[in-house]
Amino acid sequence: MKKYSFAILCLLVAAVLLLPRCAKNPDAAAETPYEMKATFGGYENQVKWGEHLVTICGCNDCHTPKKMGPMGPELDSTRLLSGHPAGMPVADIDRKLLESKGIAATDMMTAWIGPWGISYTANLTSDETGIGTWQESNFITAIREGKFKGISTSRPLLPPMPWQMYRHMTDDELKAVFAYLKSTKPIKNIVPEATPPLMAATK
Ligand code: HEC
Repeated sequence: MKKYSFAILCLLVAAVLLLPRCAKNPDAAAETPYEMKATFGGYENQVKWGEHLVTICGCNDCHTPKKMGPMGPELDSTRLLSGHPAGMPVADIDRKLLESKGIAATDMMTAWIGPWGISYTANLTSDETGIGTWQESNFITAIREGKFKGISTSRPLLPPMPWQMYRHMTDDELKAVFAYLKSTKPIKNIVPEATPPLMAATK
């Protein structure tokens, strides 16, 4: 009889210890992702969160043409995120020297010269000449794998696009950035294709 009561006591203790855990776990699994989604980083919706991320990640520094202000180049708010303006020639500079010695940007910071040749920042607006025809999966491939047009078989993205940093964004952050880009004013601008280097890089 004593043996039985001891066993029952053990069972009771085990039940008291284990029950709260069993009860907690399913709750945690169900609630965490929901809470993360619903908060949008503290912003009222996914697009606003994406706009915030684009702002603090400095996408405009390179993807928005500039106009000259009293303190130097300023963002041209009529052409936000529309990339290197089509038809704008790169300044007449010694490319061989720049390609071998370092990198340089034009005054608009939309064309960049270095050992890779010349890269032009992309049109990220919702126009079809931007990311208008992209699927969310293209955007994730572009940023996570650094692939042109977000197609995994296409060429690698050239410097100075810092995809190696942005690839650390969470899925939800990348989706928010894409949702914001899709919501931007469409601006028609066919950015020139990158130019290969004049010569192989030398020291
Ligand atoms: C330091 C400059 C710089 C910054 C900052 C920058 N980019 Fe870029 N980005 C570029 C350049 C240059 C290219 C073109 C690369 C090429 O042609 O291979 C590019 C290309 C891209 C592409 C590929 C477009 C295509 O057609 O394949 C995407 C998408 C992109 N950028 C998104 C972003 C986003 C989103 C941000 C901010 C989170 C950002 N970029 C910040 C320079 C920059």
